[in-house]
Amino acid sequence: MAKKILVLTGSPRQLGNSALLADAFIQGVKTAGHTVQVFETAFHPILPCKACDKCWTNGKPCVFPDEFEKLAPMLEEADVLVLCTPLYWFTMTAQLKAAVDKLYSYMKPTAPRKLKIKECVLLAAAEGNEADGDYDGLKATYKSIADYLKWKDRGMLLVGGTWDAGEIIKTGKLKEALELGKTI
Ligand SMILES: Cc1cc2nc3c(=O)[nH]c(=O)nc-3n(C[C@H](O)[C@H](O)[C@H](O)COP(=O)(O)O)c2cc1C
Repeated sequence: MAKKILVLTGSPRQLGNSALLADAFIQGVKTAGHTVQVFETAFHPILPCKACDKCWTNGKPCVFPDEFEKLAPMLEEADVLVLCTPLYWFTMTAQLKAAVDKLYSYMKPTAPRKLKIKECVLLAAAEGNEADGDYDGLKATYKSIADYLKWKDRGMLLVGGTWDAGEIIKTGKLKEALELGKTI
């Protein structure tokens, strides 16, 4: 059955390593017959959650006007959420985290609309490696979010050894991203 996949990217670098990872994954997902939307959090600024607890009081998930207004309908349509980020200080970028924080609005019992996301994927690129524990913080956050929201983890692809934009090409991991996309 065709699924709706939403990819949230976190890097401020266009054509950077995680962007190439997302592209390869998306190619695989499309091969499998699913539809894909991409939202680049670094190019659609989202304000941090202010914990005002006024979600939905003006009819919108967040009462503060920012580009979460564009992301919200995409989230509401999605069956699968993909978080794709460079590792910044052992976790996702602030731009991506700001978007994730605003999922809070959909968790409120009073939310008039709920998310139907059931599955998730994590894609990440970094200089450091998983074997050295560099990804532990990101993995723990991702797994905790998935467990809390009862999303099924469909895979984590964590690529080390990348610093300059484009270096991921020589790791050979883009093929793995493509193959992971085909399994969704
Ligand atoms: C602010 C900042 C923080 C970073 N923190 C880490 C880190 O904690 N661990 C790591 O291995 N690499 C870190 N990096 C390196 C990036 O993860 C790496 O360059 C990655 O390939 C960038 O992906 P992108 O091209 O998609 O932006 C950091 C880079 C920046 C700019």
